[in-house]
Amino acid sequence: MSNNRVSRRQFLSYTLTGVGGFMAAGMLMPMVRFAIDPVLQKHGGGDFVQTEHKIADITDKPVKVDLKFEQVDAWYKSDVTNVAWVFKEGDQIVALSPVCKHLGCMVGWEEDSSHPNQFFCPCHAGRYEKNGKNVPGTPPTGPLDEYEVQEKNGFLWLGPTKANTLVK
Ligand code: FES
Repeated sequence: MSNNRVSRRQFLSYTLTGVGGFMAAGMLMPMVRFAIDPVLQKHGGGDFVQTEHKIADITDKPVKVDLKFEQVDAWYKSDVTNVAWVFKEGDQIVALSPVCKHLGCMVGWEEDSSHPNQFFCPCHAGRYEKNGKNVPGTPPTGPLDEYEVQEKNGFLWLGPTKANTLVK
C-alpha cells in the first residue's frame, strides 16, 4: 500500500484553495478588464472630421462651420460640436477657432456693428482682425488659433487646432 495517500484535511485544503482561487479570478477579471478598457480600444480613422461645407461654396466672407464628432474620453463617449470660422484668403482655405484668447468665450464675425470686418468677443469686448490677430488695446493677449484644413471629395475637412500662421 502506498504512503502517498491524501488525507481528508489535505483534500479539503486543496479543494477550498482551488475553488477560492477560481471565484477570486472570476471577480477580479471583470474589474481588471474595466480598469484597462481604454487601452484595449482600437482607435480608427484620422484626426480630421468632414464638415457639410463644400470647398466651392467658401468665399472670402467668414462663415460659421459646425464640426461634429464623437469624443471618446476614457470610458465615456459623447457627441461634440465644435465651431470654426471659415473663409478663403486668396487660394488658401482658412479656418479659425472661435475660442477667445482672453478667457475662452466665443467670438463672432462682425458682431459689433461699430467694428466691421472684425471678430468680436461679447464677454469683454475683445476684437480680432480677419486673420485672427488680436487688436491691441483689447483684452485678448494673442491671435485666434487655426484649424488644420483638408479638402476631400470637394468637402472641407477640419483637423486639430494649431497656432495661428497668418499673423506675422
Ligand atoms: S473672453 Fe473674450 S474678451 Fe474676455
